Amino acid sequence: MTEQKKSEWNSNLAFMMAMISSAVGLGNIWRFPNVLYSNGGGSFMIPYIVSIFLLGISFVLVEYAVGFKFKRSIARILYSINEKLEPVAWFILIVVFLITTYYVCVVGWDLIYIFLSFTKAWGSNPDLYFTNSVLHSTDSISGFFTIVPVVLASVFAIWFIAWFIIKRDLNDGIGNVSKILLPILCGIVVVIVAFSLTLPGASAGYTQIFTPDWSALGNLDVWLAAFGQIVFSLSLGMAIAMTYASYLPDGSKLVDNAIIVAFSNSGFEVFNSIGIFSILGFMTVTSGIPFNELVTSGTGLAFVVFPQVFNTMGPAAYVIGPLFFLCILFAGITSVIALLEGVCYSISEKFLIERKKTATVVCIIGFCISIIFTTGIGSTILGIFDAFLNNFALLFAVLLECIVFGWIYKFDDLIETLNAHSTIKVGKTWKIVIKYILPICILGLWIQGVISTINEADTLSSIVMLILTIVVIVVPCIIALLPARNKNYYEHKIYSK
Ligand code: PFF
Repeated sequence: MTEQKKSEWNSNLAFMMAMISSAVGLGNIWRFPNVLYSNGGGSFMIPYIVSIFLLGISFVLVEYAVGFKFKRSIARILYSINEKLEPVAWFILIVVFLITTYYVCVVGWDLIYIFLSFTKAWGSNPDLYFTNSVLHSTDSISGFFTIVPVVLASVFAIWFIAWFIIKRDLNDGIGNVSKILLPILCGIVVVIVAFSLTLPGASAGYTQIFTPDWSALGNLDVWLAAFGQIVFSLSLGMAIAMTYASYLPDGSKLVDNAIIVAFSNSGFEVFNSIGIFSILGFMTVTSGIPFNELVTSGTGLAFVVFPQVFNTMGPAAYVIGPLFFLCILFAGITSVIALLEGVCYSISEKFLIERKKTATVVCIIGFCISIIFTTGIGSTILGIFDAFLNNFALLFAVLLECIVFGWIYKFDDLIETLNAHSTIKVGKTWKIVIKYILPICILGLWIQGVISTINEADTLSSIVMLILTIVVIVVPCIIALLPARNKNYYEHKIYSK
């Protein structure tokens, strides 16, 4: 069997839309408001903007340059730099794949909430409704043996949608879906923000974002939080930008694109949080619940606090509610397909399996793993997966990429590639950032994450994390050892130092 023809974006717009859609996800909608609020409100913007440049754009540029220059999957690129590095690529891909398995589940919960929001079915106690009636959540191990049918069905639906998009040709699938969903998503956010600003008490909410607590700036944790948010929000270290950039036609503008993508993603989350804070301000005024008790992250904000808000909103909630959950659905689906693309590309390139077949196998395996999260104990395990993969594995992936491309690969080649394809040029400063500054900052974040993860671990999470550690070490080594069916895979060594 011979290597298939390489896919290519049919326009720069398709690439940009796909990149922005991959970045805009659950992290922008439910993670950012909490991070912003708990790290000094307005003054958080300073570490945040510094992180966009220092970490976000700098790192995305590495992935762009590598993907664009070699036009291969991450597994094959790392193999070509040094065959011993191939397991590193599969480690990154396995981490991304495992993240997808639980991310899909949260998007599945959201799908259920779209339907619930038409009738405000959560009643007067959304917290209890979410844990008892939707998730049938239990902390007992016996919960592992009961599957919640509705959650299973919605998780299946999201995997099916993801499969349906990803199995298609690049432009037909990811390209078109991003071009359609991203503008709708932005439209919905504009409607929600415009509406939320008209609510009584809105200013009590959004002024929180713009009221700086300058003392927060001297706090190292605030800087680490800004870095962490950029890693999550821009999907750094997941080989998404590398994969998407490898599909770029010659003549594309790389640095310019990276700046637009990073600022669109951050613009989206800042703009969106104006709406979220205004709505929370309204809730504070109408219910008397203090603002700091309302701002939570993750599932708490989307599936508990917002239903509470919709309960106090009157008839408008029947429109704003479904729109809010639809917004999360669209943002989530486009991120899921981005997460899967790099995994599928690497597998199909190494084993010469056609795109459709690879997508089918990957989605079936992914769905089988996701079933764990549809059990009674699923949401607890999901929390453990999230803590381990985000605080530990993902940051490690970013660190590994900095080391591989900053230290092992001939970095000046990347500078040359970028400068040959950009209006804005990069130079020595970028090199210093990737070789020294970024690894040090990421290491700081990583150590902080490891310590907090270990401190918070109970017996169940220790067991799950141990299993995950074994999986993310053993599986990549096995895949790397499997012989490639694509004979070109072993050719063309890339020059490294
Ligand atoms: N950047 C996307 C988001 O903010 O939701 C996608 C994503 C990031 C998915 C990080 C998963 C993840 F761990």
